[in-house]
Amino acid sequence: MGADHRVLVGYASKNGSTAQIAEWIGARLRERGLEVEVRAVRGTLDCSYYTAVVLGSGLYERRWLRDAVRFVRRHRHELLRVPVWLFSSGPLDGAAGARAIPPVERVARLAERVDSAEHVTFGGRLAEGAGGLVARQLLAQGKGGDFRDRDRIVRWADHIADELLAGADTPPARV
Ligand SMILES: Cc1cc2nc3c(=O)[nH]c(=O)nc-3n(C[C@H](O)[C@H](O)[C@H](O)COP(=O)(O)O)c2cc1C
Repeated sequence: MGADHRVLVGYASKNGSTAQIAEWIGARLRERGLEVEVRAVRGTLDCSYYTAVVLGSGLYERRWLRDAVRFVRRHRHELLRVPVWLFSSGPLDGAAGARAIPPVERVARLAERVDSAEHVTFGGRLAEGAGGLVARQLLAQGKGGDFRDRDRIVRWADHIADELLAGADTPPARV
């Protein structure tokens, strides 16, 4: 039974677009009958309640945001006990839709540390109001835009739901 699962969709987001991706994923998982919490992985968080984790961050200078990296480091042992799916959001062009983009090196290492089954890269968004000098420069150069593909994101959420529900007869042990 899907309702046996309690899924954390955690995210780190500087300018809000990764937060929205997490909400889209969470909404789809809920539609599929799973119990879901979508939340920023800031500060300390009791992970012991969750039986599966989806975690994502916006990419900045080829890194995840600090909150997401810290979350993985702090909760490594809890994460090793549950299925973990990771996503990055970044490319400000059509690249993420055209081919599978592997995780940046640091994120690949994090994925290994928590034995994550899967990582995907989604396109990002850079919009007016984004904080920081580089963001403003990129916008001034016309490099802004929204390159997130909601259909693809929802399809990925469906795939996660499929996996969780397929294994539903033997849900992961509560940690
Ligand atoms: C200063 C800056 C650096 C960035 N560096 C990268 C990068 O290294 N790789 C990448 O794919 N996207 C990069 N991006 C694009 C962001 O990842 C993209 O805007 C993402 O959607 C931001 O997520 P957020 O809105 O949740 O903060 C960068 C954007 C900015 C403004």
